[in-house]
Amino acid sequence: WGGLGHITTAYIASNFVSNSTEAYLKQLLRSNESDYMAKVASWADSIRYTKWGRFTSTFHFIDAHDNPPESCNVDFERDCKETGCVITALANYTEQSLDPALPAWRRAQAAKFVIHFVGDLHQPLHNEDVSRGGNGIHVKWDGRDYNLHHVWDSSIAEKLIGRGKPYLVAQKWSAALTEKITGGAYADEKETWLADLDFGDFEATAMAWSRECNSLVCEYVFPEGPKAIVGQELSGEYYEKAAPILEKQVARAGYRMAAWLDRIVDEYKKRE
Ligand code: ADE
Ligand code: ZN
Ligand code: ZN
Repeated sequence: WGGLGHITTAYIASNFVSNSTEAYLKQLLRSNESDYMAKVASWADSIRYTKWGRFTSTFHFIDAHDNPPESCNVDFERDCKETGCVITALANYTEQSLDPALPAWRRAQAAKFVIHFVGDLHQPLHNEDVSRGGNGIHVKWDGRDYNLHHVWDSSIAEKLIGRGKPYLVAQKWSAALTEKITGGAYADEKETWLADLDFGDFEATAMAWSRECNSLVCEYVFPEGPKAIVGQELSGEYYEKAAPILEKQVARAGYRMAAWLDRIVDEYKKRE
């Protein structure tokens, strides 16, 4: 996701974590503000193009090599790069955030990666190989040239919630999505969102979330296949179908992030 998506998932998560998780993370991240998670949510993107952060550049996605729109699936052995992918990254940084032998700064860094990668794992094109997750697919948005990956990372969300200062806009969106989760459109299904969460198997959990997200590629990202979308204007009919799907993925990411962080903090306190 772009900044708006990541900040929003983190704000949603901060609305659902337990009081003890909030207290632990505020101390670890050295912040007493309500944006203690939101303000670290994009940090992993800020370091991926630096010399030090280069080793993390493949950690943001998994390049699923199926054939949309006929077939969508993710296969860990086939699709996770040797250098790592979002599945191994989430598993490894979850493990690091649980390790009492690591200094606090390393656990803080691990928590920041976990917050970011749970977000990316819910963007359909971060679970798809075609043209580097759509980065190489030229499309139109309001008459201007963009690539499809950018449309899903940012353009759809910005049209849905409106442009403005990222933190203010994200806070507004997260409040609306939190309401949908607690008492609105998602209230009845939210418990099913945690059905695949298995804190005994980090990679299996990440793969279940990845497969669910990748299945949306066939239905909503490339409904007529990747070639048919080249050059198309996406801010109209395509947007109308995509926006509710994207909104649910952001809500799922935030709700699952909260549950995952609660498990991390509970387990850390047992090991400490
Ligand atoms: N680079 C290669 N594949 C990618 C993907 N699916 N998402 C983002 N960046 C990528
Ligand atoms: Zn992206
Ligand atoms: Zn990322």
